[in-house]
Amino acid sequence: MQVSRLLLALGSAAAVCGAPLATSLQQPWRGADKVDLRPSPHLPLLSFRPDGTFKLAIVTDTHLLDNQLAPGNESEVNGATIEEVQRYLERERPDFAVHNGDVISGEAANNTKNVEDAIAQLFSPFVRARVPFAVSHGNHDNDRYSTHASLARLERAVAPQLCYSRPAPPGIGGGRFGDEVGSDNFWIPIHASRKAIRGSRPALLLWFLDSRSGHTTLERGYQPIDSWVDPAVAIWLNATASAMQRAWGTLPPSVIFTHIPNRYHLVAQSKAPFRAKLGGVTDERPEHFPGPNGDASRPHAGLNIDDPLDVQDKAASRDQAYLDAIAFGPLGSSRIHGIHSGHDHAADWVSSCPCALPCVGSSDAALRSARHRRS
Ligand SMILES: *[C@@H]1O[C@H](CO)[C@@H](O)[C@H](O)[C@H]1NC(C)=O
Ligand SMILES: *[C@@H]1O[C@H](CO)[C@@H](O)[C@H](O)[C@H]1NC(C)=O
Ligand SMILES: *[C@@H]1O[C@H](CO)[C@@H](O)[C@H](O)[C@H]1NC(C)=O
Repeated sequence: MQVSRLLLALGSAAAVCGAPLATSLQQPWRGADKVDLRPSPHLPLLSFRPDGTFKLAIVTDTHLLDNQLAPGNESEVNGATIEEVQRYLERERPDFAVHNGDVISGEAANNTKNVEDAIAQLFSPFVRARVPFAVSHGNHDNDRYSTHASLARLERAVAPQLCYSRPAPPGIGGGRFGDEVGSDNFWIPIHASRKAIRGSRPALLLWFLDSRSGHTTLERGYQPIDSWVDPAVAIWLNATASAMQRAWGTLPPSVIFTHIPNRYHLVAQSKAPFRAKLGGVTDERPEHFPGPNGDASRPHAGLNIDDPLDVQDKAASRDQAYLDAIAFGPLGSSRIHGIHSGHDHAADWVSSCPCALPCVGSSDAALRSARHRRS
């Protein structure tokens, strides 16, 4: 599994760059008038600490139920993963945690009870450490006995006071396989102080965009699912950000989470020199990422075990709709701190964006990808 942390300072989070752009929707979205700027009224408001910081922990690719390493040894492997999550949350004491997907290896589940048990196990450390969280599910989460929506329901049931995930509006995210497989499209407001009024302009927005993928359940015929953010999500992004702009004047900065990296991650990876682009933790040097057999040389040294980086639908660029909404829609009128993804194992890196996303291309904004470490 993979863990990393992101410490945001209120001062920098409040920086705004880029001129506000006019918005014009290509297609109206039926729910556009009903954008609720006070989501999850039953949950506490999330806010920066009095010292102006907000610590966000990322856990990803925990793959509970995985039996690829030692068939028949799932419970031990699960136990070790859960222990590691517990240690991490206790050590870091984050204000919020994001699970960036592949919570389980759904293909290894034999029935729905396996899935329920795995979710209860994995999120018990969050409950014990009282860490609020949200989840951007991955390709292995849509499988034999699970969908993104069914897992989110289980997560809310396991941690009703801590889970901030909520389903996308009807018709947004699922594409032709229905809302169940692409339901993780939502946003979470982080306020400047605990005393903020619900619905007022937050200091930071966390966006969750569902890159779908995997399979429909056995019951639904086990059909492969498109592995990119559904274009309808771009319509919802524009409409939601535009409602926010109307209500708040300007948008606060954003951080985006989506399980499968977008195409620009691939561009970043393909352009030498890789090393100059690696940032963040000093350990992220290529020699610290030996190949599967201890081999230090690999095609994308330090970046990824997959060759090439596995990204959303790289051939047809079908993730362009949501990237355009970020770049040219009202969301892009404020700063995008970064787009975080899991999915690609053994890679843990930060790159400036070699693309047209406003402010994402600046020196301090980032595409981030996560390493997968078996504990
Ligand atoms: C099962 O997994 C645990 C944790 O990864 C490992 O320590 C143990 O040796 C494994 N046992 C077998 C029989 O593979
Ligand atoms: C699923 O069934 C197989 C075969 O009976 C068994 O080896 C495995 O442990 C089961 N997996 C789970 C998560 O119960
Ligand atoms: C979102 O808004 C931007 C800016 O107006 C536009 O370029 C883009 O096509 C819109 N996306 C959709 C799906 O409507």
